Amino acid sequence: MLVLETARLIVRPFVMDDLEDAHRLLDVDLHWSGLEVNLEQRRRRLQFYIDLADWADTGRLYGYRAVLVRPTSRLIGICGLLPRLWSPRLKGLLGMDNADGGLATLELELGYALASDQRGRGYATEAVGALVEYAFRELQVRRLVVGTGRSNAGSIALMRRIGMRTAGNPVAEWPEVVGVLENGRADRGPSTTTQLSSKNTTSGRV
Ligand SMILES: CC(C)(COP(=O)(O)OP(=O)(O)OC[C@H]1O[C@@H](n2cnc3c(N)ncnc32)[C@H](O)[C@@H]1OP(=O)(O)O)[C@@H](O)C(=O)NCCC(=O)NCCS
Repeated sequence: MLVLETARLIVRPFVMDDLEDAHRLLDVDLHWSGLEVNLEQRRRRLQFYIDLADWADTGRLYGYRAVLVRPTSRLIGICGLLPRLWSPRLKGLLGMDNADGGLATLELELGYALASDQRGRGYATEAVGALVEYAFRELQVRRLVVGTGRSNAGSIALMRRIGMRTAGNPVAEWPEVVGVLENGRADRGPSTTTQLSSKNTTSGRV
């Protein structure tokens, strides 16, 4: 099980013991998956996150992680990476290279959210920064993308804070704003984490 640690946070895969906290955060506070997600529905979604995060063939990279704040270990947010098919047009908005022959590619998309009472303290930047460092340094992925809404100022600011190149989508479709962060390229911003460690335990399934 991969655990990322920063100065203030722990980013780790979900476990089913998180269910009630995850329901409070994702469904009561954030409406992350729609307006009326009950505990049983959250249980199934949480199991999906757990299974994705445990998928060894992908380097255990996919799936939302729990973001916990020290020293209480309160669940304050989520962040993670999901596979998303990006069209040539979407990639063209960001000038992503043409080495793919102008075809769609499966990109790694960053997702993140914080409890509404935990914003404005840099926690999201710190958690996402840890994930980016891990993806780039340990797993050596080529690039990360984000898609968000035009009115989502918090998300767009975060994209820019971690060094993403961003562009508006002129076509009326989702995503309205896109961003890319290339591994080892000039558009890479400074490291956003103060300390990062990764632990691989042998405890098997999370
Ligand atoms: C996107 C989201 C996670 C951003 O949260 P956030 O609190 O703005 O981001 P951070 O936690 O990184 O905090 C950054 C802010 O804290 C401030 N800050 C305070 N202390 C800080 C510290 N020690 N270190 C860094 N920043 C600090 C920064 O200056 C910045 O403030 P600013 O926005 O006024 O410039 C949040 O808006 C959210 O959860 N939205 C709902 C979910 C969502 O839309 N997700 C994206 C889907 S695409």
